[in-house]
Amino acid sequence: APGALVDGFGRTIRYLRVSVTDRCDLRCRYCMAEKMTFLPRAQVLTLDEIAIIAERFIARGVRKIRLTGGEPLVRRDVTDLVQRLGGHVGNGLDELTLTTNATRLADHADALFDAGVRRINVSLDSRDPERFRYITRHGDVAQVLGGIAAAQAAGLRVKINMVALKGLNEDEIPAMLDWCVAEGLDLTLIETMPLGTIDEDRADRFVPLSAVFERLAAHRELARDAGSTGGPARYWRVGDSKTRLGLISPLTNNFCDGCNRVRLTTEGRLFSCLGHDDHADLKTALRTGGIAGLDAAIDAAIAAKPQAHDFRIARGDAPAVSRHMSVTGG
Ligand code: GTP
Ligand code: 5AD
Ligand code: SF4
Repeated sequence: APGALVDGFGRTIRYLRVSVTDRCDLRCRYCMAEKMTFLPRAQVLTLDEIAIIAERFIARGVRKIRLTGGEPLVRRDVTDLVQRLGGHVGNGLDELTLTTNATRLADHADALFDAGVRRINVSLDSRDPERFRYITRHGDVAQVLGGIAAAQAAGLRVKINMVALKGLNEDEIPAMLDWCVAEGLDLTLIETMPLGTIDEDRADRFVPLSAVFERLAAHRELARDAGSTGGPARYWRVGDSKTRLGLISPLTNNFCDGCNRVRLTTEGRLFSCLGHDDHADLKTALRTGGIAGLDAAIDAAIAAKPQAHDFRIARGDAPAVSRHMSVTGG
C-alpha cells in the first residue's frame, strides 16, 4: 500500500490545508483586488470528492486538516464536510480546524465544536470599526467580535491572525496583544505576502516583523516557546498569561526547511508550495483513475515539492505568484 508522504528534501507531509471555496464576503486590501473573478461553480469539487481526497491524505499519514477559503463558512454545505472529517479526529487525525474571517462564525460555532473542532484561527487586522471597514472594504467589526465571543462560548480556543500593515494597523499591534491577553486569545502576526495583484503596491504596506517583535518585547514579557501548532509560526509565551504570540515571517525568517504541508484548492488542484505555480490536478486524477489514480497524482506532486518559496517585496515588483491567497487559503 502507498506509504507516508515524504518529499524530495526528506520532509514528511502531515498537514493538509483544504480551500473549500475561493469566494469571500470581504475584500481585504492586501489579499484581494476590489473586483475579483471567482471560479465558475461547475469547476468546483463536490463535497464528497473533497472528503474522499482528504480521507486519502489521512490514510497517507496526514494528521492535521485545516479548512480555509476564501471564507470557508460561505460555502453552504461546509458543516457537512466538517462533520464527516470530524469523524476522523482521534482516529487518524490529531486536529481538524479552520481559518475564518468570523463574519458568520456565531451561527456555526456550536456545530464546529460538536463535530470535533477544538481550535480555530480568526483573521482580525484591526479592532477599530473604521479601520476594519477600510482594510476589509466591507467588514463590520462588531459582527466579527461577536463571532469570536460565540466561538469562545462554544468551547473553541481562538487564535487571532493579524497581518501587519504599515499605516493601517502597525500602531495597534501592542494594544491587540493586550486585548488578546485580556480575552484569553492567542495572537499570530503575519507578514504580507506577494500573492496575486491587488489595487495597491504591497511594498507600501510591508512591515518586517523583526522590528515589531522588538517593540512587543519592550511592551510585555515574552518567553520563547519551543512548542508548535504544526504550522509555520514561531511562538512566545506572554508573561504568565494563557496567550501565545506567534510570528509568521516568510519574508524575513524563512521557515521552508520545516515545511510539512500541502494545499488542495476548491478546483481539486494540489499546490505543494504556497510560493509556486506547480500543481497537480487531483480532480481529474480521481474522476478518471479512482483511488489509484489519486495516489499516483499525489505521489508525483509530493516528489516535485519545491524546496522553498522566493517571496520578495520591493516597490514595483509583480507578485511572486499570480494567484491570490484566497485560491489556496494560504
Ligand atoms: P496553526 O495551525 O494555528 O499553526 O495555523 P496556520 O498558521 O498553519 O494557519 P493559518 O490559516 O492561520 O495561516 C496563517 C498564515 O500562515 C497565513 O497567512 C498563511 O498563508 C500562512 N502560511 C501557512 N502555511 C504557509 C506556508 O507554507 N508558507 C507561507 N509562506 N505561509 C504559510
Ligand atoms: N499575505 C499574508 N497574509 C494573507 N492573508 C491573506 N492574504 C494574505 C497575504 N497576501 C491572511 C489572512 C488570513 C490568512 C489565512 O492569510 O488574513 O488570516
Ligand atoms: Fe476574505 Fe480572508 Fe482574503 Fe480577507 S484575507 S478577503 S477575509 S479570504
